[in-house]
Amino acid sequence: MIQRTSALRSLLGPLRVPSLSSKISEYNWYTSQAASSLQEVIIPCASSLSGDDEYADVDWDNLGFGLTRADYMFIMKCFKDESFQKGQISPYGNIELNPSAGVLNYGQGLFEGTKAQRTEDGRILLFRPEQNAMRMKRGAERMCMPSPSIDQFVNAVKETTLANKPWVPPPGKGSLYIRPLLIGSGPILGLGPAPEYTFLIYASPVGNYFKEGTAPLNLYIEEEVVRASPGGAGGVKSITNYAPVLKAITKAKGRGFSDVLYLDAVNKKYIEEVSSCNIFVIKGNLISTPATNGTVLDGITQKSIIEIARDHGYQVEERRIPVDELIDADEAFCTGTAVGVAPVGSITYQNKRIEFKREGQLVWQELYSTLVGIQTGRIEDKKGWTMEIN
Ligand code: COI
Repeated sequence: MIQRTSALRSLLGPLRVPSLSSKISEYNWYTSQAASSLQEVIIPCASSLSGDDEYADVDWDNLGFGLTRADYMFIMKCFKDESFQKGQISPYGNIELNPSAGVLNYGQGLFEGTKAQRTEDGRILLFRPEQNAMRMKRGAERMCMPSPSIDQFVNAVKETTLANKPWVPPPGKGSLYIRPLLIGSGPILGLGPAPEYTFLIYASPVGNYFKEGTAPLNLYIEEEVVRASPGGAGGVKSITNYAPVLKAITKAKGRGFSDVLYLDAVNKKYIEEVSSCNIFVIKGNLISTPATNGTVLDGITQKSIIEIARDHGYQVEERRIPVDELIDADEAFCTGTAVGVAPVGSITYQNKRIEFKREGQLVWQELYSTLVGIQTGRIEDKKGWTMEIN
């Protein structure tokens, strides 16, 4: 596959992709975006792959969560009221959209995130991609879109990963982040479902999501901006859930915090979710996480950690967590595909900073180590969560 796709790239030659933004320092603020990926990037053709041809020419030691364009993307289209048939791998590049595309005008779109990891013995593993496929299906139903079948989704993720194999980081250096999108690409002027849909997957090697790396995060509880409300789309991965929180993130980062923890929209009393990840709090043997009841995204890392924690003998509750409970918590941590598992060192609420345990034996570390062990093949996968694709 690599030879076939590399040959295609050799024929096409290097692609020049225009810069997304020149405001590097501002962009860095939100994640650990690598500055280099904001410049004009020349996607390497086969001849510019690193010496052994197994890896792309990337500074693997300095990956953040910035876009480093992998060579190929997957694309598949279908009309409204029809189903997706067959897609194809093509070189990564801009896509053309009608100015009146549903996604541009009315936000009819979903995204997913999943990762491929390289094991010590050189295999490549996906982690529960069928869960992303199922979540996209649920989201598509909410957003009135046709969605790929579970098999189509998983096969497309496999094909995209194989085509971009040189971009899967060496063991221990990060992972290939795979981003499936489902968008209303057809033109529509009046408010309604678009007449045509595009399912697309692109990929980028990534390291840590937060600039803090693995150091504890300092979260800020937002009391004005809400992320989701009952009856809305907070429980699915709609693209419309993300831009509206940028204002709150910007405010929190401006005050030196890592990210924002949102409260429920009705009572402003229960903790729900961080901008890009789920949250857990620990008290003794009890691990709690906000229930995914429609306003909280059902995270795949979240549900994996719940299962691992129960296997390790912890009691896990998915429930409403009053913000006042944070004062008594021992530890807190965040989970997400992009984020992985990230410890929380403090949460600030109404000008009071609540500190959590940062040293000694930490529960989050125990759970994280098992999760990453399974994802990277270091620990035997007895759950059937990983999918080897080479
Ligand atoms: C992911 O964890 O994959 C996400 O979708 C979060 C995103 C905001 C980076």
